[in-house]
Amino acid sequence: MDPGANAFRGIPLAVAAAFVVLFSLACSVSCSVSYDRKAVIIDGRRRILVSGSVHYPRSTPEMWPDLIQKAKDGGLDAIQTYVFWNGHEPSPGQYYFEDRYDLVKFIKLIQEAGLYVHLRIGPYICAEWNFGGFPVWLKYVPGIEFRTDNEPFKSAMQGFVEKIVSMMKEEKLFASQGGPIILSQIENEFGPVEWEIGAPGQAYTKWAANMAVGLGTDVPWVMCKQDDAPDPVINTCNGFYCEGFTPNKKYKPKMWTEAWTGWFTEFGGAVPYRPAEDLAFSVARFIQAGGSFVNYYMYHGGTNFGRTAGGPFITTSYDYDAPIDEYGLAREPKWSHLRDLHRAIKKSEPALISADPTVNSLGSNQEGHVFKSTTGTCAAFLANYDTEYSVEVTFGNGKYNLPPWSISILPDCKTEVFNTAKPAAKGTQAQMTPVSEALSWQSYNEETASASDDDTTTLDGLVEQVNITRDTTDYLWYLTDMTISPNEAFLKTGEYPVLNVWSAGHALHIFVNGELIGSAFGGLENPKISFSNQVKLRAGINKLALLSVSVGLPNVGVHFETWNTGVLGPVSLKGLNSGTWDMSSWKWSYKVGLKGETQGLNTVSGSSTVEWIEGSLLAQKPPLTWYKTTFSAPSGNDPVALDMGSMGKGQIWINGQSIGRHWPAYSAQGSCNSCSYAGTFNENKCRSNCGQPSQRWYHVPRAWLKPTENLLVVFEEMGGDPTGISLVTRTA
Ligand SMILES: *[C@@H]1O[C@H](CO)[C@@H](O)[C@H](O)[C@H]1NC(C)=O
Repeated sequence: MDPGANAFRGIPLAVAAAFVVLFSLACSVSCSVSYDRKAVIIDGRRRILVSGSVHYPRSTPEMWPDLIQKAKDGGLDAIQTYVFWNGHEPSPGQYYFEDRYDLVKFIKLIQEAGLYVHLRIGPYICAEWNFGGFPVWLKYVPGIEFRTDNEPFKSAMQGFVEKIVSMMKEEKLFASQGGPIILSQIENEFGPVEWEIGAPGQAYTKWAANMAVGLGTDVPWVMCKQDDAPDPVINTCNGFYCEGFTPNKKYKPKMWTEAWTGWFTEFGGAVPYRPAEDLAFSVARFIQAGGSFVNYYMYHGGTNFGRTAGGPFITTSYDYDAPIDEYGLAREPKWSHLRDLHRAIKKSEPALISADPTVNSLGSNQEGHVFKSTTGTCAAFLANYDTEYSVEVTFGNGKYNLPPWSISILPDCKTEVFNTAKPAAKGTQAQMTPVSEALSWQSYNEETASASDDDTTTLDGLVEQVNITRDTTDYLWYLTDMTISPNEAFLKTGEYPVLNVWSAGHALHIFVNGELIGSAFGGLENPKISFSNQVKLRAGINKLALLSVSVGLPNVGVHFETWNTGVLGPVSLKGLNSGTWDMSSWKWSYKVGLKGETQGLNTVSGSSTVEWIEGSLLAQKPPLTWYKTTFSAPSGNDPVALDMGSMGKGQIWINGQSIGRHWPAYSAQGSCNSCSYAGTFNENKCRSNCGQPSQRWYHVPRAWLKPTENLLVVFEEMGGDPTGISLVTRTA
């Protein structure tokens, strides 16, 4: 039953319609937004607000209306998004607001649906997004240091924040102008960094808050995980639980900007999940403790298309075990259970906004939180914190059975309408269904680069990767020649020398005389790599080619902009007549990117510029190979994915659009922890898929497909079997 409909029973339709207009969410002319110690106040009325994170570049514009509608149907009042600076300003002063980066369109669609927006401008956003949202060129501004009291950084940051705010103002998108944006955010989780860097961090916090407030948006600003957020900026909580959080001033409301619905997946890791019951419990617990704003991070996680994943080592999927899955389908029972929770909270809203809770003990580990206003409205939350036992409690004139680790909501202090441990509907789990279309592949060999190639640059010593590539590609070749004298003893004994390579990350393929002799990978915890192996060398020139591969730039950590990528050495060869060669200071030749990238083999027009081969060679699974095929779009409207379980590591394009990095990256057997929802959750609990690929399926947005003749191109670094690639649809 829709609780809203109930209220109008018996009232003539026209009058009811007038009420609907009056109380509809959207700010038609203008809304005033302020706050007090209890809640955000919109047009004079305190509100309990439920919000959800949906990041516009992590889906396609064609998906946005449905995602927003599912959020609304799920009982959300608002959508929260970051603003993605590196997507919007790919080079200094060159702005991009089209397609997946059409921020204004995204906000207007939310407005049309009658929802509010929480705009987290940052511009540091973390988000497991490449470089935390900063454009890579920003690192090369002379004298810059990120996120501290540094003039070049502050000036660039202010420029971008002003750009976004003035864009929002021009489009009249702030609630004060009749738009949907009721809240903004400056910076992001800066508190822990400030704690480490001290005084310059404190000065930066004050500057950032003043700069933001000075922009005159007439809606409140928040700073999350920022205990010293200067007035009038509201400090807010991020976490799996936030009931214990207290704002830094007694006149600020208790807000939760990131209620984590799950966690991100890293290549090589098992897949985290968070049970709906524990999530609902944490939200009910926050509300009963006086919280008045909850945002789910993520409500729809989506996909890190292209090279937008950060980390390094964040998977292409950013599903996050969110209530709406990566493909845009409701995840059950999570989506329905939270919708029911939101209905119960909405029914309780009149009492929640007008009274402070009184806390009654209902047992040794049970409590009742009662919101009773002077006008007689009453709502109660009955909590059982025991993780093992159900308890029957007496409250008022009633008896209530509380399952372990659960909260019952009584919007009238009598009737239990919801319990966090009792999802009503099981719902159907969406599944991958194979599509029967045999793909017919062609291949093209990417030649191993050589120091004698004419499109290389020769430098003294080993250099940092991103300084050369500027992150225009994942790939950088480090090339040199090793000249072996015919007198070397190993040529007779066969005791080949040992090649040692140290790299700052993230992946490394080692070729000697055009042959792949080994690969090595870092991981999220430690991106660094060391490789050590005997190498078969011959008298004369031996070509050493190190293909260094980045897997997303770091997005978090104190001065992460200074963290290196690539082969920084030492590189040595041990076991020669003269002892060990330290090759680190030799002359090295560098080649940015793959030849196939330069030729545009991943694009529709470029893919036909070379001679592809068909048939028998496919079986050999060579490294450094481009594959292409065409396929028809699966019939119907179900979301589409590629099963890449048979492949090694590389990237995928459909009709020239980058699907992202593929890498099944099997997680270790036994790395799953047994998960009981009842109990304090953390990101290391509740992991599935151990011993399985971290990511087997890759989302192919319907909007990128034509009915027939879709070009699929795969670049494979290590060697995989393309005949094992298949199309699947995701069906509920
Ligand atoms: C990039 O490389 C240049 C040339 O080697 C060097 O002078 C500069 O310091 C490097 N920049 C950074 C930020 O590492």
